Parts: sequence; structure tokens; C-alpha cells
Amino acid sequence: MQIHIYKTPELAAKAAATLIAAAILAKNDAVIGLPTGSSPVAAYRELARMNKEGVIDFSRVTTFNLDEYIGLAGDHPQSYRHFMDENLFDHINIAKENTHVPSGIGDGAANARAYEEAIAAAGGIDLQFMGIGRNGHIGFNEPAAAFSDQTGVITLTPSTIEANARFFASAGEVPRAAISMGVGTIMRARRTLLIATGADKAGAVYGLVRGAITPSLPASALRLHPHCVVLLDEDAASRL
Ligand code: F6R
Repeated sequence: MQIHIYKTPELAAKAAATLIAAAILAKNDAVIGLPTGSSPVAAYRELARMNKEGVIDFSRVTTFNLDEYIGLAGDHPQSYRHFMDENLFDHINIAKENTHVPSGIGDGAANARAYEEAIAAAGGIDLQFMGIGRNGHIGFNEPAAAFSDQTGVITLTPSTIEANARFFASAGEVPRAAISMGVGTIMRARRTLLIATGADKAGAVYGLVRGAITPSLPASALRLHPHCVVLLDEDAASRL
């Protein structure tokens, strides 16, 4: 695991965008896994800038998002599909049909199976970018008795519902379940990239880097990944 600690969250975001840009420069039809949330927003802005300047071309890139809320259609303002359009896809020259976000509508098990099949059909994920939850989750893989393997439907924990309530009018409106890539799906990506900034991530980052490899801190599985880069700002790294 390569760990880099930056003075500011902006520098960590710039490093993340640089690694994603490098993956696309190395392979113009790269398959990139993407997160939503606060963590990737500045990196997405930087990627859009690089695309606009002509440094990177997304026209042959395929993306797979980590997760989506159950019950929210893609046109719902709080859906992760909508988030991705607003924060990245509408600002780059990607073909929308090459962007994949799991469906939160309909038969969850069938949607999850179809998502794994689509990832396999695309040749697997070259680079999986992600954030980390305050409880150590990656995707929506919450602390559990065992590491999840494939994409599936997950019941969100009260701490995640509370953390994500900031995007909704109230905690009561946060969906109680999500469809998420499994820890196994993430681990099968050829390269992985995690960004964490801010003091509220310091505990999870400590667990990721120094704690036991345990499904009670799902991100700790990344210590077993052969190509994992972790980008932190000083606040997120403050307990290391
Ligand atoms: C989002 C996702 C989550 C977030 C995590 C951190 O697609 O999979 O694991 O990365 O909850 O969220 P933020 O970045 O909002 O602190």
C-alpha cells in the first residue's frame, strides 16, 4: 500500500486526478470505478479541467460507479446517477452509454447480478477510485461479520444514514438500503485508489493503515490489494 500525506485536501484531490488521468493516458479505453460523496468532488473538477484543456480524452473510457440508493431513480436529485452527471459526466466528453451506475429500482438481486456481468463483459476494472466512510466502509459495504464478495443490496447502518443526511432535507428521507459493489468486486480491480480528507476520517484511516484486517473495518481488505494507493490530507492522517 502506497500512502501519501498532503498538506491540504486540494493537493490530495490533484494527486487523485493525476493517477486517474495517468490510467487513461496509459489505456485510452480504461475501465474506471468511481465513487460519489464529498471525497471525489475536487478530483472530478480537476479531471474535467484536464479534459477541457485536451490533456485527457474520455471518449473511449468506461466507468462503473460503486453504488446507488435503493428506491431512487436516476433522475432523483439525490440519486448517485444524478450526482455523477452533475459532478463529472456532464463536464467531460464521455459517452453516457459507457457510464454505469447500479440501478436502485426493481429487482435488487437481478440488478446486482447484471452489474457484475457488465463489469466482467467490460474486461474488469482497471482502476477503482473510492472514498472511505467514517465507519471504515468502502462502497456501501458496512462493518459486518464477513467481507462481502459481489455486488448486492445492503442495509445502511444508522451512522451512515446520519452521515449522508446532509444531502437530504432530513435523516428520515435517507434511503435505508443501497446496492453496492462488494468488497470482492473492489478487490478484483487491477488498481485501487482511496482518498480520505478531514479529521472525521482519522479513525477510519487509522484502522485502514494500522488496524487489523477485519470485515468490521471493510476498507482494511485493501491492505491485501497488490496495487493500492491511499491519498490523505494531514487531518485524515492525524492518528497515524
Ligand atoms: C460513495 C461511497 C461511500 C463514500 C463514503 C465517504 O459512492 O461509496 O463509500 O465514499 O461514504 O463519503 P464522503 O466522501 O461523502 O465522506
